[in-house]
Amino acid sequence: MQQTFILRKFNVNDLKRVTYINRVCLPENYTDYFFMDLHRRFPETFLIAEEDGEVVGYIMCRNELGLSNFGFRGLIKKGHIVSVAVLPQHRGKGIGQALIKRAMENMQLYNAKQCFLEVRATNTTAINLYKKLGFQVTRTIRSYYADGEDAYVMSRKLPFK
Ligand SMILES: CC(C)(COP(=O)(O)OP(=O)(O)OC[C@H]1O[C@@H](n2cnc3c(N)ncnc32)[C@H](O)[C@@H]1OP(=O)(O)O)[C@@H](O)C(=O)NCCC(=O)NCCS
Repeated sequence: MQQTFILRKFNVNDLKRVTYINRVCLPENYTDYFFMDLHRRFPETFLIAEEDGEVVGYIMCRNELGLSNFGFRGLIKKGHIVSVAVLPQHRGKGIGQALIKRAMENMQLYNAKQCFLEVRATNTTAINLYKKLGFQVTRTIRSYYADGEDAYVMSRKLPFK
């Protein structure tokens, strides 16, 4: 199938639209400052997807120092997918997958050796997608979300090929 969207880096003019998509798609919402701070610190992994000149999805990430999820002892750099979403009417076209792949590629610019994220234990669509991209569940965090739902931490090694 021919790709109908493009990926590019987020810029400040996208802020309103990205916060809109975040509110439509996820119960975890953030202040403008939070979005802009991640953009300022990690511009290579804050990406948007555009279809017919309209922003329809985004991914934003943070580079962190943390313990390895795969046995290695000591601190390593890890890319944390903080939020990813695609508007409902644009789903199932590979946009989510493309955003995550590109973000993982770009995490290497920050020397990240692993990538991880938290996902609601009932979010099977997202969990399937992450598994397809080589992630595995490495931990469960009980009552992680404000409504009491558990989170799976899903992780994979980088580089992504
Ligand atoms: C998760 C999300 C970003 C995926 O975006 P998307 O653009 O639809 O994803 P893709 O088209 O790349 O789909 C990739 C895979 O996701 C899974 N998937 C997509 N739509 C699905 C559906 N309706 N039911 C089950 N699995 C589905 C499949 O594994 C699919 O692979 P396939 O197309 O080869 O079958 C999107 O569903 C979304 O925004 N959800 C709400 C926000 C959210 O849950 N974010 C993740 C929080 S951790």
